[in-house]
Amino acid sequence: MAQEKEHIALHIDDAGKERTGELRKELSGVKETLNGVQETLKNCQEVLDSSVSQDARRASEDLDAQWKNFQDMFDQMNKNMITNLASSLQQEGFGRLMRPSLSSTEEELTPEQKEEVLGYDFSLQKVASLIKSKKATKIVVMAGAGISCSAGIPDFRSAGGLYANLAKYNVPELPTPEDVFCIEYFHEDPMPFTVLAKDMMPGTYAPTPTHHFIKLLSDKGLLQRLYTQNIDTLELLAGIPEDKTVFAHGSFADVHCTNTDCLERMKLEEWRKSIEQQEPPRCNKCSEEALVKPDIVFFGEDLPERFSTLRRKDLGDADLLIIMGTSLYVSPFNGLVELVRNTTPRVLINNEAVGDNVGLAYAEKDNYRDVFLHGTCDEQITTLCEELGWGEELKELIERQKSKANNGWDQVVWAQSQLP
Ligand code: OAD
Repeated sequence: MAQEKEHIALHIDDAGKERTGELRKELSGVKETLNGVQETLKNCQEVLDSSVSQDARRASEDLDAQWKNFQDMFDQMNKNMITNLASSLQQEGFGRLMRPSLSSTEEELTPEQKEEVLGYDFSLQKVASLIKSKKATKIVVMAGAGISCSAGIPDFRSAGGLYANLAKYNVPELPTPEDVFCIEYFHEDPMPFTVLAKDMMPGTYAPTPTHHFIKLLSDKGLLQRLYTQNIDTLELLAGIPEDKTVFAHGSFADVHCTNTDCLERMKLEEWRKSIEQQEPPRCNKCSEEALVKPDIVFFGEDLPERFSTLRRKDLGDADLLIIMGTSLYVSPFNGLVELVRNTTPRVLINNEAVGDNVGLAYAEKDNYRDVFLHGTCDEQITTLCEELGWGEELKELIERQKSKANNGWDQVVWAQSQLP
């Protein structure tokens, strides 16, 4: 786990350093120009000093004025550069270092305002009443591996999870389990991921009741956005609209050459064939025979732009945050929790208590807005749906899913063919 933290921090530090390095280079370029100008001015001054004419004196004053202007411009440029540097550090990828928090700029709530949020009722029934009474109509859902466990896909960090049991999946030995998703390691040895990819292939698993619950939220116009860390494409198969979903860690839904000068798309069918033969897929366009991989965000890679462009507004607008099946361990994803207003209730549905690291306060004495529904996602959302009067609709979606052929492989292939 420490290793993984390091991967992420490294990614952030490297990007930060790169940007800082660029700005430093710019700054030293400007300094060089400035030195050149200073030299020229000095020469001019010497020429003028040696001259006694009135005109030459006027020209000298002119040059002094220009010099002052230039210095002012230089100061301003420095200020702008420092501001740019600060703001680029605030941008995506740096959330861990400088996590911006809306609540830090918000005023402390009065006791009445706190009471107003949940009335100090932290029950599932209270959560249902927020949705029923239309107090919550812009719901943001944050999801992790736990929502797909009942489909048969293990999570990552539980005792029975992927990282502790790689041997069970016949993945060749790795320095650390997380290296299976590390971009540097993938280029060194693509086999561990190739083995795992066969097991994680879309079309092997079907969406869970929890996925259908999110689909119901969307159908009822209550879903502001789903932010998922999952790469299994089950959101797509459940019919949750793509524009309502942010695949924060990418997914298996599309595949590209890793050579940045090529980036050629490979058809999923072709990629699947190589994976089934346990041959690491290689690009058949670029001459270097570069490796091809699904658009999953590996450690050492950037998150999709959509994550940075949408998150601030989505979370700022949210009137209910539901967090499901995640350890909230991975940054910057876990930082979303802190972006909601301090009047927005935050509900964690998980089979273990997590979130202390990002300020979830359901266990604190002064908690007024965080709810912890302890149990499996499917159990909790089934009860929630019954409370909401959506029980039958949920069952219908589950039944409809059963009639779908090959767990939606055709659907994923079709979706890829529609991509620009
Ligand atoms: P984790 O494995 O870190 O956490 C899953 C959480 O879900 C744990 O707290 C489990 O206890 C809980 N859980 C498991 N089954 C559950 C169930 N049926 N009902 C309720 N809770 C359940 O998975 P993530 O938080 O999703 O990165 O991990 C985040 C990222 O780390 C992943 O996206 C992955 C990984 O390295 C990439 O693939 C790039």
